Amino acid sequence: VFVKVVQAPEDPILGVTVAYNKDTSPNKLNLGVGAYRTEEGKPLVLNVVRRAEQMLVNDLSRVKEYLPIVGLAEFNKLSAKLIFGADSPAIQENRVTTVQCLSGTGSLRVGGEFLARHYHQLTIFIPAPTWGNHIKVFTLAGLNVKTYRYYDPATRGLDFHGLLEDLGAAPAGSIVLLHACAHNPTGVDPTPEQWEQIRQLIRSKAHLPFFDSAYQGFASGSLDADAQSVRMFVADGGECLMAQSYAKNMGLYGERVGALSIVCKTADVASRVESQLKLVIRPMYSNPPIHGASIVATILKDSDMYNEWTIELKAMADRIITMRKQLFDALSARGTPGDWSHIIKQIGMFTFTGLNSEQVAFMTKEYHIYMTSDGRISMAGLSSKTVPHLADAIHAAVTR
Ligand code: LMR
Repeated sequence: VFVKVVQAPEDPILGVTVAYNKDTSPNKLNLGVGAYRTEEGKPLVLNVVRRAEQMLVNDLSRVKEYLPIVGLAEFNKLSAKLIFGADSPAIQENRVTTVQCLSGTGSLRVGGEFLARHYHQLTIFIPAPTWGNHIKVFTLAGLNVKTYRYYDPATRGLDFHGLLEDLGAAPAGSIVLLHACAHNPTGVDPTPEQWEQIRQLIRSKAHLPFFDSAYQGFASGSLDADAQSVRMFVADGGECLMAQSYAKNMGLYGERVGALSIVCKTADVASRVESQLKLVIRPMYSNPPIHGASIVATILKDSDMYNEWTIELKAMADRIITMRKQLFDALSARGTPGDWSHIIKQIGMFTFTGLNSEQVAFMTKEYHIYMTSDGRISMAGLSSKTVPHLADAIHAAVTR
């Protein structure tokens, strides 16, 4: 009965790892998926995560019962505090509902499905470009996806004018997807002043902001600094949605830990919204898994472990920043034609190199370097040892 099923293409990001795994070259390098690697090129489990897991295992009072549909209550509370700030008026006034979801993707999907059922405006504006999965997640959730200008290839920076023009022209009440920090794939973020202008425009048009926060702490190394954009929007008393992921900042990729928060006007609205979120979640996956959320809650509620986490997080962010500097220096040393200063200006896990898909294909074929075809490289996958190989490949690709 399935003979007519056609072969589907690999995912543009996760498929890069599939291709990488098939490559037998000893020099192969995976800069595709945004996953942190150590200087030795190995995945990293944070010490504080190991400690939390040990504590959980040793606690024999812990059982494997189902979590409620909305997940672990303690985790939800702590997650909202982490992103909105402990002193957030929205939290104090109980206007925020938070539900544990399957990492960032699951949070976006649950939020999207809720909006498709309960929000009057079904169009979501996403930045061009954006993380490829956004388009699929929101389309399948039942929203109409449109783009707003974001990245200017000429300056390799923000197209601020285009952004304001497009969001200004969007129908009133449109949903607007915003990357809270460390925009994926471009590594280009608005300045605080630009964020303020974006906020004013969004509020004046009664648009609904939907934040995707996958990199809190990864952009600057500071959890608070990386939440500033979000907190500006919450401070004005308006509504917003927030999808949070702990994949990168706690290295919990495969545990699929995340949270969706909806900031509402009143506590009463928030509680009704939560009742509807449960109706979205229950038929989708019933209730979320317990282990990853317990790790996060264990760390967030203990000030000593929290501090240890911030130190390890900063070390990851700093290593990425060092890789930016080393790659920039390596290209300068080779006299590679072009302005490569965007490598040190862009922030977060990725550099949007400006290399085109042909150059990327050349680097993969000749140098066994794997990256997404839009020229995005994961700086977190790079090490001092592999920078020269990458610089050689880029140099060869642009001087060919
Ligand atoms: C990425 O953009 O590489 C990450 O967010 C991983 C993913 O799921 O695509």
